[in-house]
Amino acid sequence: MVEPTHRVTVRAPAKINLHLGVGGPRADGFHPLATIYQAVGLYDDVTVADAPDWSVGLTAPIDGVPLDDDNIAIRAGRALVAHHGLDLAARITIAKGIPVMGGMAGGSADAAATLLAVDRLWDLQTSDEDLLRIAGELGSDVPFALLGGTALGTGRGEVVTPIPDRSSVWWVVVLSDEGLSTPAVYRHFDVLAPDAVADPPVPQALVDALAEGYTDEVGALLHNDLWPAARDLRPDLVDVEAQLRILGPDGVLLSGSGPTLLMLYEDVEEARSAVADLTERGFRCTIAPGPVAGAHVVTYA
Ligand code: C5P
Repeated sequence: MVEPTHRVTVRAPAKINLHLGVGGPRADGFHPLATIYQAVGLYDDVTVADAPDWSVGLTAPIDGVPLDDDNIAIRAGRALVAHHGLDLAARITIAKGIPVMGGMAGGSADAAATLLAVDRLWDLQTSDEDLLRIAGELGSDVPFALLGGTALGTGRGEVVTPIPDRSSVWWVVVLSDEGLSTPAVYRHFDVLAPDAVADPPVPQALVDALAEGYTDEVGALLHNDLWPAARDLRPDLVDVEAQLRILGPDGVLLSGSGPTLLMLYEDVEEARSAVADLTERGFRCTIAPGPVAGAHVVTYA
């Protein structure tokens, strides 16, 4: 009798940072953060299946995604089986819906999805605490991709605490043809802000506005400390940002380390008409709701 193929698919969301407060570099080179993450409705689907060796592939080829042992999804799979002292391997297949090198943590979503999928594939019953810790070792944004919703991120971003968010919003996600390197943006931040504080403050006004669900206020309080560095490295973003503001969204924001720009809308029809307008003018953009759930199983076979 042929053994059935075990296969699990997990969907994980993109993230944005409604507030990204960045401090001066720590001894390990990472930057202390006080950030408010929100998961938004752009997703990568990661399928894992029993295999003799670890490997990773994409359902459609995309430049900039490594397909060897450097891929963060393979590192995630290996880390989880090593944690359990097992010698197992899987074929990982990624269907990408999150922009690559866009500042939306697509790689982190793949790692989070792989952790959950590998856990379910072999019924490893990893505790949430261990999953979050292993996620944090893989990358600063990986624990949040497991959690989803809206959360405060501290440490280098890996320490996540869910916060109440009664807002229900639409983001117009404006893509760039070229990516930006996260380390390069942080390095330039250090040049521009040599006196950055060691302990960036939690944005309490934004936390309160989210708890109340006041979209106007949320829009006015959106903030990203990496914006000056990103727009220095990519001066074209300055003009794009100005064009987006003219359309009158509730707020405009650089996503993470960029170069993706975000427009906030409470009303989906207004968001749709902004997408239509921008598309006609040659921009590449899409729409995504927020907040949405973190990594979750969608197929189990
Ligand atoms: O943790 P992650 O692998 O996502 O980080 C990618 C890069 O971004 C790091 O190597 C570092 O250059 C930069 N980074 C940082 N401070 C953070 C998060 C990321 O300097 N809090």
